Amino acid sequence: MNSNWNRPHTTVVLAMSADGKIADVNRSPANFGSPNDKAHLETQVAVADAILVGAGTLRSGGTAMRVTNPELIQQRESLGKPAQPVQIICSGSGAFEPDLNFFHQPIPRWLLTTSAGSQRWEGRPHFDRIVVCEKSAAEIDWIGAFQQLAQLGMERVSILGGGDLVASLLPFDVIDEFWLTVCPLIFGGDKAPTPVDGVGFSTDMAPRLKLLSVKTIEQEVFLHYVLIPKIDKQDS
Ligand SMILES: NC(=O)c1ccc[n+]([C@@H]2O[C@H](COP(=O)([O-])OP(=O)(O)OC[C@H]3O[C@@H](n4cnc5c(N)ncnc54)[C@H](OP(=O)(O)O)[C@@H]3O)[C@@H](O)[C@H]2O)c1
Repeated sequence: MNSNWNRPHTTVVLAMSADGKIADVNRSPANFGSPNDKAHLETQVAVADAILVGAGTLRSGGTAMRVTNPELIQQRESLGKPAQPVQIICSGSGAFEPDLNFFHQPIPRWLLTTSAGSQRWEGRPHFDRIVVCEKSAAEIDWIGAFQQLAQLGMERVSILGGGDLVASLLPFDVIDEFWLTVCPLIFGGDKAPTPVDGVGFSTDMAPRLKLLSVKTIEQEVFLHYVLIPKIDKQDS
C-alpha cells in the first residue's frame, strides 16, 4: 500500500512508437509490440490484484489482457491469489457494447463508474461488481475510488491505459510507476493517442520521474520509471 494514505500501489504499463504514440491515428487496437513486449505486459498483469483500463481502450480492442502463461498463474496461486486479477473498466458514461469479447473472457470484471454510468449495467450479469464513485455526473472521483479499491483488498494495481485515463489520474498523485516500451515504428498524427493525453502540464508543473532501469531486448527498449512525489520535488 502507499504510505501517504490508504490506496493501492499503481504502475502504468504502455507500449509506444518511437515518436511517442500508443496507437495509430485511427485509435486501432494496440497490437504493435513484439512477443517480448507481450510477455512483459503479461508479467505486469500477473503481479497485480486489479487492472485498470479506460473505456476508450475497451471500445477499441474489445478484450482484456489476461494471464495465460501457466507459470505465472501458478505463481499467483502459490501466493494465495486468484488465477486472474480483476479487470476494472473505468467509464463515466458506461457506454460500451454488451457483446464485446471482453464479456466472454474467463476473468473477473468490475466497472468503476458514476451513478449515470451504472444504470446501463445494474441488474445485468456482465460485471461481478459495480463501484460507483463520482465527482460529477460524468466524472469518477479518483481519491474516493482508490480508497474503495484499497478497502476491497486491492494492494497492487496495473493501469493499462489509454492516454485519457492516465492523464485523468496523474494530477491526483495516484500513479507510482511507469513502464514504457519504446517500439521501432512511427505512427505520427497529431490526433494519435500518447501515454498521457488530456490538457497537459506546464514545464514547472510537469510530474517528474526517476529512471529505475533501461532494458533493451532485440529492437525494443523497456523503460522503468518511478514518479517523484511532489513533496520531494519541493525539497530539491
Ligand atoms: N500501446 C498501448 O500500450 C495502449 C494501451 C492502452 C490503450 N491503447 C490505445 O489507446 C487508445 C484508447 O485510449 P483513449 O485515451 O482514447 O481512451 P482510454 O484512456 O482508454 O479511455 C478513456 C475513457 O475512460 C473513461 N475515463 C477516463 N477518465 C475518466 C474520469 N475521470 N471519469 C470518468 N471516466 C473517465 C471515459 O470513459 P467514458 O467515455 O465511457 O465516460 C473516457 O472516455 C486506443 O487506441 C488503444 O488501442 C494503447
